[in-house]
Amino acid sequence: MSDIKKIKEEFLNKLQGDLSLSEVNQFKSDLFGKNGIISLEFKKIGQIQESERKKFASDLNEIKNILQNQIDFKINKIEELEINEKLNREKVDVTLPSRPYLKGKIHPVSQTIDEISSIFSEIGFSVEEGPDVENEYNNFTALNTPDNHPARDMHDTFYLDDNKQKLLRTHTSPVQIRTMLKDKPPFKIIAPGRTYRSDSDQTHAPMFHQVEGLHIDKNINMGHLKGCLNYFIKEFFEVDKIKMRFRPSHFPFTEPSAEVDIGYEIKNGKIIIGEGDKWLEILGCGMVHPNVLNNVNVDSKIYQGYAFGIGIDRLAMLKYGINDLRAFFECDYRWLNHFGFDPLDVPSNYRGLSR
Ligand code: PHE
Repeated sequence: MSDIKKIKEEFLNKLQGDLSLSEVNQFKSDLFGKNGIISLEFKKIGQIQESERKKFASDLNEIKNILQNQIDFKINKIEELEINEKLNREKVDVTLPSRPYLKGKIHPVSQTIDEISSIFSEIGFSVEEGPDVENEYNNFTALNTPDNHPARDMHDTFYLDDNKQKLLRTHTSPVQIRTMLKDKPPFKIIAPGRTYRSDSDQTHAPMFHQVEGLHIDKNINMGHLKGCLNYFIKEFFEVDKIKMRFRPSHFPFTEPSAEVDIGYEIKNGKIIIGEGDKWLEILGCGMVHPNVLNNVNVDSKIYQGYAFGIGIDRLAMLKYGINDLRAFFECDYRWLNHFGFDPLDVPSNYRGLSR
């Protein structure tokens, strides 16, 4: 008996020390492991004289409990200490001012694309994408623009092979074809992206940006198109009223087709959108031609709808007062710094698009 009392004293003493978690765990297994000191004592119970057995067992149990409690207590304490140390070490002062680490800016064209996507997503359009390198079929033939059609010349196409099978897409309209081929109607999508034509002056760049819109369902008419574009222009320019005019036009893939102008005036050298008697063309649109629907296996007797193609760079120039298109693509750091946007200020309809 005195033996186990000694063991108890010895271990309680040891546990007083400044110990690591692994040291305490070592004591634990020394005492209670398979061949631990206490475990072995328990095995002796059977051999002890009956008269002393009860007392031995109850003393042993008591000592076992005391040591176990002490070990658990010690482990808890060490863990607590470790957590506190960690908390102290990793303390963050949330009241510190933020560091001016944001050097980059969002390009006005990217900002405009984000704004446009945000506006159309509010009325149920989802965003589709297509590749810049297209095939001749998606860019022209499927869009009711067969070989030798005069519209092909007007596009000043960059062909990538001698057979004129691969090209840089001249508009975002091939995404209409891609979208309708891979899914079933109804469709309600926009497709922003880069487009290319061999053309360059103050208002034309060989690479520019468009956003395509396509809405196909049962009973869609020109009124829906007009309502949709009217809503978009008002939201985009953040004005309550807008002057808009639909001018009859021609595109092979829409019938009827129209071009849309918005009214503006110049006041004190600044352009004011939505007023005045000057007109600016910003997009082409129309009701999707039945031939296009047939080319993508959509039954044009059941489904019809509208499409539009908006010049993004033009819209950005108007909204942000940029008067030379070429500046967009010159990568002049000072220009970007002046016209760029805060990367953390993502456009959203409810917070305001461009603050
Ligand atoms: N793809 C036409 C263009 O680039 C614009 C357009 C799109 C017209 C959709 C009608 C419908 O000029």
